[in-house]
Amino acid sequence: MTLGISTAEHVAEPAVNTALFEAEEQKPSISVVGLGYVGAVSMACLSHLGFRMVGVDVSRDKVDAIGAGTAPIVEERLGELLDAGVRSRRISATQNLIAAVLETDVTFLSVGTPTSKDGGCDFSFLRQASRAIGQALAMKQAYHVVVLRCSVPPGTTLDVVVPEIEQASGKRLGRDFGICFNPEFLREGVAVADFFAPPKTVVGASDQRAERTVAAIYGAVDKNVIYTSIEAAEMVKYVDNVWHATKVAFGNEVGRLCKKLGIDSHDVMNIFVKDLKLNLSPYYLKPGFAFGGSCLPKEVRAVSHIASALGVDVPLIDSLMATNDRHVEEAVNLLRPFRGKRIGFLGVTFKPGTDDLRESPTLAVMAALLAGGETIKAYDPNLHFGPLLQGQIDYVRHAVPAQAKLMDELQTMTLASADDLVAASDVVVVSHATEEFRAAIRSRSPDTHVLDLARLFKDLPKEATYQGIAW
Ligand SMILES: NC(=O)c1ccc[n+]([C@@H]2O[C@H](COP(=O)([O-])OP(=O)(O)OC[C@H]3O[C@@H](n4cnc5c(N)ncnc54)[C@H](O)[C@@H]3O)[C@@H](O)[C@H]2O)c1
Repeated sequence: MTLGISTAEHVAEPAVNTALFEAEEQKPSISVVGLGYVGAVSMACLSHLGFRMVGVDVSRDKVDAIGAGTAPIVEERLGELLDAGVRSRRISATQNLIAAVLETDVTFLSVGTPTSKDGGCDFSFLRQASRAIGQALAMKQAYHVVVLRCSVPPGTTLDVVVPEIEQASGKRLGRDFGICFNPEFLREGVAVADFFAPPKTVVGASDQRAERTVAAIYGAVDKNVIYTSIEAAEMVKYVDNVWHATKVAFGNEVGRLCKKLGIDSHDVMNIFVKDLKLNLSPYYLKPGFAFGGSCLPKEVRAVSHIASALGVDVPLIDSLMATNDRHVEEAVNLLRPFRGKRIGFLGVTFKPGTDDLRESPTLAVMAALLAGGETIKAYDPNLHFGPLLQGQIDYVRHAVPAQAKLMDELQTMTLASADDLVAASDVVVVSHATEEFRAAIRSRSPDTHVLDLARLFKDLPKEATYQGIAW
């Protein structure tokens, strides 16, 4: 049976992959603790995929609504699916959490995690529900999988939920029960449609058995489940929402500015979003070193200046130079333990493949160290000292007085090759991810330290002498 889901958005038909569970009896039964926006949609959609669902809430009204096959919230198609689930006897609901856990194989946990008084995350519902799950597991022999769907700070699953369950149950994670963090990415209003065509499915699991169970549950709607650590799965949910908020705030700042300038913001942003190479793409989003060069800092300052002149508040855009400067300071701070050592820089220009020194953030780090009396050396394959480069050096000397001494000494501190630089340094700061620099770093002596500003390696080196600026 297919469910003719139709919304304004493109929605894939739920193609149920029956091969994952040969017969319905083999499908794990699932209890859902917390029947709010997330839990009610899980109940409806998973029952549609053939899972037997037991919903649990402390609210009598929500339990009654779900048990009667009616939606406790406004959400397109939710009532229809719940009604079908109740009629097919796949859905039931109770206030008795312990009974629900005992009669199911997997428990989805979707209680509220509101903002606490100090602005953090209030764990009280989560702790209470986790303890009750633990009390149920104390009475259960079979292995059980708990799937946390709440948005929580990284570490919560293993540091809050698991200890509560273990303490209340006397059972051990991995042996008696497994835990997964499976963030919820559905958008309210189109949550049912999103469930059947998810933007992504992410699972961080305590062990392979738990991972396999959850992967098989989602196999019908997503063939490309992303597996990661529990902490990364927790973090990605927060990062997603902060990013979405950033996008909204950015678009609105552009809108306020455009309005004042008499430009249609939608004309501007319609063109902006057409650029899938640089604007809406992974480009510029991977943690690395600060931005620099002849364009980004200059134009961020220009836009801030225009906004200020027009009396338009753009706090997000105004904050960009400050956050970039903070990243440069971070590099300087990470080098503090190496005071008095020989510090070498691999990569000096603002990015690889150019001789452009303008607003190179590496120069800012070098100048700060030089001002602090440190001994520094450098190598960059694109620095060819001569009349042309001299023009740039003179420009930086005048544009950035704090870098004047560095400009005077740049040629004398520059060595002939990456290997020479590494050999002459106690700590090497790498700001360009090039093959030449990777090879030089790989062949360094074991006691040479590395501060990687460019994420040289996909698989992070394990040596204690290696550290990255943002990983
Ligand atoms: N609403 C969304 O679109 C959305 C999206 C992604 C993630 N999340 C996250 O999912 C979680 C749930 O969000 P929501 O919007 O569904 O919350 P909600 O407040 O609508 O629902 C939570 C439900 O949990 C119940 N509950 C609280 N303590 C309980 C207990 N001990 N036992 C049983 N039930 C209990 C409450 O009565 C309530 O019905 C939150 O962590 C939220 O941040 C929500």
